[in-house]
Amino acid sequence: MAERTPMIAGNWKMNLGRKEAQELIYAIKDGIKGLKDIQVLVAPPFTHLDTVLKAIGGADIYLAAQNMYWEMSGAYTGEVSGRMLQEAGCTHVILGHSERRNLFQETSDMVNQKVKAASFLGLIPIICVGETLEQRDNGQAFEVVQRQLEKSMDNFLADQRMPPSTILAYEPVWAIGTGRTASPDQAEEVHRFIREWIDSSFDTHTAEQIRILYGGSVKPDNISALMSKPDIDGALVGGASLKSEVFLKIIRFQEG
Ligand code: 13P
Repeated sequence: MAERTPMIAGNWKMNLGRKEAQELIYAIKDGIKGLKDIQVLVAPPFTHLDTVLKAIGGADIYLAAQNMYWEMSGAYTGEVSGRMLQEAGCTHVILGHSERRNLFQETSDMVNQKVKAASFLGLIPIICVGETLEQRDNGQAFEVVQRQLEKSMDNFLADQRMPPSTILAYEPVWAIGTGRTASPDQAEEVHRFIREWIDSSFDTHTAEQIRILYGGSVKPDNISALMSKPDIDGALVGGASLKSEVFLKIIRFQEG
């Protein structure tokens, strides 16, 4: 089976001032010295990308944006293109986060266009899927996740190829910012389902290579149990990524 390097990603959402962002990076840099076999990523707001890139310097921290628009340039007031993100130093971009889907009416068709543009540019998409509490209670979790996967990656399905660098994130909406984490078994069940979907829609080799992160109230005290599951390859952390000591405990989960 393919070895998948775990990734711990911090989605800062619309938080932190520029100075706080800089200090957080300095502390993370210090705290990950000597750490191997784990990838660390941060996704600051657009306006902090430049500051964060400079603060990262030569450290092993990947930089992501939290969203992008699919056109390369033009009259799209308020939007930012993938090429602009690359110029700002981003290697990754979070796409289809549930807050974008639910608060800003982003559809899976829109996510698909973004995924297509990001992949064309060589920006690695972190594609988010996840059901709401109502959908879970109605027994629709798998159906909803499958529909989001199919529509958000329609272009990969049409090409019959999913770039193996693509990252997926399962973020059950009911576990985001609520303190209510999916149990490791609940999360693993959906991660397994996603990997099987990749296997049947693409091929086994791709399914073994793609990393699937879990997101939703990840904390230092639940990360180890989540990471012990075979199909959970990392975490997309919101609130707990904003304080260096907390985020570093999550990053260093292997040390117990
Ligand atoms: P919390 O970790 O704050 O629940 O947020 C999860 C999330 O949405 C990460 O993208």
